[in-house]
Amino acid sequence: MLNDIWKHIVYPAKSVSDEKLRCTFEGKWVVITGASSGIGEALTLKLIKAKARLFLIARNEEKLKSLCDKARENGCEERFKAIDLRRRDELDAWCETLRGELPEVSFLFCNAGKSIKRSISSSIDRMHDFDRTMDLNYRSMVALSLALMPSLRNAGGRIVYTSSVSSRYPFAPGWSAYHASKCAANAWCRTARRENKMLGVKVQVAYMPLVHTPMADVNESYKNLPAYSADEAACILLKLAMGNKFRYKPWWAL
Ligand SMILES: NC(=O)c1ccc[n+]([C@@H]2O[C@H](COP(=O)([O-])OP(=O)(O)OC[C@H]3O[C@@H](n4cnc5c(N)ncnc54)[C@H](OP(=O)(O)O)[C@@H]3O)[C@@H](O)[C@H]2O)c1
Repeated sequence: MLNDIWKHIVYPAKSVSDEKLRCTFEGKWVVITGASSGIGEALTLKLIKAKARLFLIARNEEKLKSLCDKARENGCEERFKAIDLRRRDELDAWCETLRGELPEVSFLFCNAGKSIKRSISSSIDRMHDFDRTMDLNYRSMVALSLALMPSLRNAGGRIVYTSSVSSRYPFAPGWSAYHASKCAANAWCRTARRENKMLGVKVQVAYMPLVHTPMADVNESYKNLPAYSADEAACILLKLAMGNKFRYKPWWAL
């Protein structure tokens, strides 16, 4: 009961009508990273209903294939790329060809991400934790944004980044790799937003609060906390992408 009241106040329900989604997204090319699970999967399912044209990206090929099957059955054009976005050489080589494959992109949802909780003192021999987190949460977003910039410009498109509200607070111990990567991405997006006129592409950031997904629920202490569902988080991203605001943040965020 107390949990329900708390959820209602701190995480007010989020929804968006199928009709509105269809008006905005039907027939538009939408690229989604991290489409195979959690928020990205919920986003994909909503966009399948809206009859968007989908380009799905993640590592789990089976999952991407099954989402593409669903999209095709619903009359959507679809493609996917199974790739580890932390592999710089592979990503950069693919980026060279991607633009030719998609001459027009209306929305690029940069949503793939990984959180990692490990203190600095436990990371003495683990520089790779910092590199990998940065490569996924920051570098892959920049690489894909640059690769698709002309395609986004052709469509008057948008880049929507899934950041974290925790990157706007005094930083909790243990999250240095995660926070550094999200803050780097926030800074890139805020700068790109100011270059918006020159780029001809809108950039938006969602400072997402806690969402129950496989990533968050790995942490036992988060499992029973009130939070958004993946479906509600997808609605937050979609509403942001349909509006004119630069950012989404929960009402209680400073
Ligand atoms: N859940 C939360 O509470 C919360 C809060 C704030 C922000 N966020 C952000 O929301 C985004 C989505 O997270 P989620 O909660 O939905 O987590 P999730 O369910 O674990 O989904 C993460 C997605 O990223 C993909 N991914 C992970 N590593 C990858 C790699 N090396 N290469 C390519 N794709 C990779 C995963 O696909 P594969 O495993 O198939 O590669 C998956 O599709 C992340 O950017 C996260 O930082 C989440």
